[in-house]
Amino acid sequence: MKPFVVCVIYLCCVILLVNAKEIHDVSHTASPYRDQGRPQFHLRPPQNWINDPNGPLYYKGVYHLFYQYNPYGSLFNQTIVWAHSASYDLVNWIHLKHALVPSKPFDMKSCWSGSATILPGNYPVILYTGLNINSQQVQNLAMPKNLSDPFLQEWVKYHGNPLMTPPPGVDPDDFRDPTTAWRGRDGIWRVVVGGLRNKIGVAILYKSKNFIHWSLHHAPLYSGNENAGIWECPDFFPVSVNGREGIENSENGTNLKYVLKVSFIFNTNDYYMIGSYDADKEKFVPDKIGLTGTHPDLRYDYGKFYASKSFYDSGKKRRILWGWINESDSSANDIKKGWAGIQSIPRQVYHSPTGTQLLQWPVKEIESLRDTHVTYTGKIVKSKSLFEVKGITASQADIDISFKMPKLDDAEIFNPKWNDPELLCRTKPATVSGQNGPFGLLLMASQDLTEHTAVFFRVFKNNQQFVVLMCSDQRRSSHTQEVDRTIYGAFIHMDHKDEMISLRSLVDHSVIESFGAEGRACITARVYPQFSSGKEAHVYAFNNGSADLFVSTLNAWSMKKSKGN
Ligand code: FRU
Repeated sequence: MKPFVVCVIYLCCVILLVNAKEIHDVSHTASPYRDQGRPQFHLRPPQNWINDPNGPLYYKGVYHLFYQYNPYGSLFNQTIVWAHSASYDLVNWIHLKHALVPSKPFDMKSCWSGSATILPGNYPVILYTGLNINSQQVQNLAMPKNLSDPFLQEWVKYHGNPLMTPPPGVDPDDFRDPTTAWRGRDGIWRVVVGGLRNKIGVAILYKSKNFIHWSLHHAPLYSGNENAGIWECPDFFPVSVNGREGIENSENGTNLKYVLKVSFIFNTNDYYMIGSYDADKEKFVPDKIGLTGTHPDLRYDYGKFYASKSFYDSGKKRRILWGWINESDSSANDIKKGWAGIQSIPRQVYHSPTGTQLLQWPVKEIESLRDTHVTYTGKIVKSKSLFEVKGITASQADIDISFKMPKLDDAEIFNPKWNDPELLCRTKPATVSGQNGPFGLLLMASQDLTEHTAVFFRVFKNNQQFVVLMCSDQRRSSHTQEVDRTIYGAFIHMDHKDEMISLRSLVDHSVIESFGAEGRACITARVYPQFSSGKEAHVYAFNNGSADLFVSTLNAWSMKKSKGN
């Protein structure tokens, strides 16, 4: 290509980006504490409070993520808007002007969560919850003003809003967060709204021929059990049973399973079930009952990860999931920092070959931030010992380690009464030696180890299979008292033939997202170390089991800062 042509193309790109890079906000002077624990490669805007990811979509080569945002400060507030960021690669972001701000009787008090649907002809629309002038929850429609703008910077609210108002038996405070809509074989659209009816969480179903007039279906798509509170942010989507390819919400193919996820307000966790969708009866039929808000239920993440939302990436034919990772420090500290909340690293989700759960893995693009690299292969970690992984920036890193599983006969016996993994992590923490484990990583650690976050495994035998306990222990993450020190835990069921177990942790200052056994269990933690932040942070691999441990590979990278941070 001629240099002149290259130059013109480059200039056009720059102009596009500069035009798009516009942040509309109430002006603030940045807090001197702004950088305290601030993540460098997780998506969040420059300042203020954020919560749920909203309406993720892919349009004309650009990824869009909207999210709940308080323009006035770093705590949740009555006036929430839809902030908007866009990216070419899901890693580097530009922050655009807010997509939806309260302005009309049907959303005067707030623009709450919702989803995007791509209508035929590649026409993205948004369904969102408005808190109307009387603070009642109603569902509204918004459309892009200019379809030729890949950044979709202007959104127009439909003049006939609201499209849905609380149905009989549903309190106006308990009716929110519409899903992405899907179209049945009959050409009719369906959408689910989260709610609470007679103390039971419900996925309220609506149908429409034209996306404007919606009628309430006589029965919900699915409903839960009593006293678990409202179902927030439902998500309903198909997954392929063969392979990792994502499936568009309206696809009616064979070899599909369906996932129903809901966010439980009482414990702020996201639970899901896998099952089938009986389109004739308009019912979701789970393979195994879940969504009870208790232990055996499947969760996306066993740490801090809430109000998540997935979308189908038609560019790369995959399904991507985002979750809101709240702070676990004090509100006073959030005011001091001038910001609170981050979005998770986008994760690709797919059906596990065992058919019993979903697997999650950070999108491939995140690897473009990998920088300095250290690697170990075939390393023995003696019983009750550790070694430091040197040469990377331990506070901003991607660490992937693979351990050899013990022989099944050598594994400790699992007690079937152990049904609460968090409790087991508390009674058997990293300091308590066992036969096969604990082994794992000490992250965001001070050199004297008085501060650290231990993410680790313990291997048991249950009949002829392995049960692995995965823990993330925040009790020593910080000397500061004003932080949440919960220990998170999950069980991973593995086959007796599994020879390795892997642990990947993405460490980004105050957030550690860990993926156990190739994404079979994910645990996200927030940490606020006092003495091991920034350049003071270290990372160690440890084995506190009574047998020596074989690390087959360890790869660790410093991570670069992403654009938009
Ligand atoms: C979930 C949630 C949603 C609601 C939004 C308000 O975190 O409570 O149900 O739409 O946040 O910001």
